[in-house]
Amino acid sequence: MRIGVLASGGGTNLDAILSAGIPVEVVIVDRPCGATTVAARHGVVAELVERTEWGASFDRDLYTERLVKTLQAHAVELVVMAGFGTVVPRIVDTYPGQVLNTHPALLPAFKGWHAVREALDAGVKITGVTIHVVTEEVDAGPILAQEAVPVLAGDTEEILHERIKNVERRLYTETIKAVLDRGSVLP
Ligand code: GRF
Repeated sequence: MRIGVLASGGGTNLDAILSAGIPVEVVIVDRPCGATTVAARHGVVAELVERTEWGASFDRDLYTERLVKTLQAHAVELVVMAGFGTVVPRIVDTYPGQVLNTHPALLPAFKGWHAVREALDAGVKITGVTIHVVTEEVDAGPILAQEAVPVLAGDTEEILHERIKNVERRLYTETIKAVLDRGSVLP
């Protein structure tokens, strides 16, 4: 399965995936970000499919079309979202059941972009990581793997997120390897 990774941030999950020897055809970012540098360090092509609109005028379908065209130009079969900051539900029209995502909480709790802060605000003692298949509904697709992470006294959003990401990098890599080994996303 030819893999394309989508990222918007520092790219530490991407780094873990590439360091584990998982072959990646292309990394696509929606903004200038650290993931591009990570790709370059591993000798992987990175493409910027830039998102320039953030308000109500953002044409999500058009953006998704550009993204899909870039994935297809690299003959990508499995899309791996690793901290991608643009919600693109219509990607499943082209890649049904072929998009993975990692989420820094135990879904279905704390969906959305602020999962770590919301877990902290809610006062939960345990949060974690969820690796799931992307469906039209955000953060709601079939769960492939989950692991708990404790919330500790004195945690800030940054400290807790880093503890979660330490688990996430390993769990995402293991899950992607399992998908490649069995040749299908769902067990
Ligand atoms: C991860 O925690 C991911 O779950 C979240 O954004 C973070 C990406 O981190 N949506 P990085 O860019 O891989 O370091």
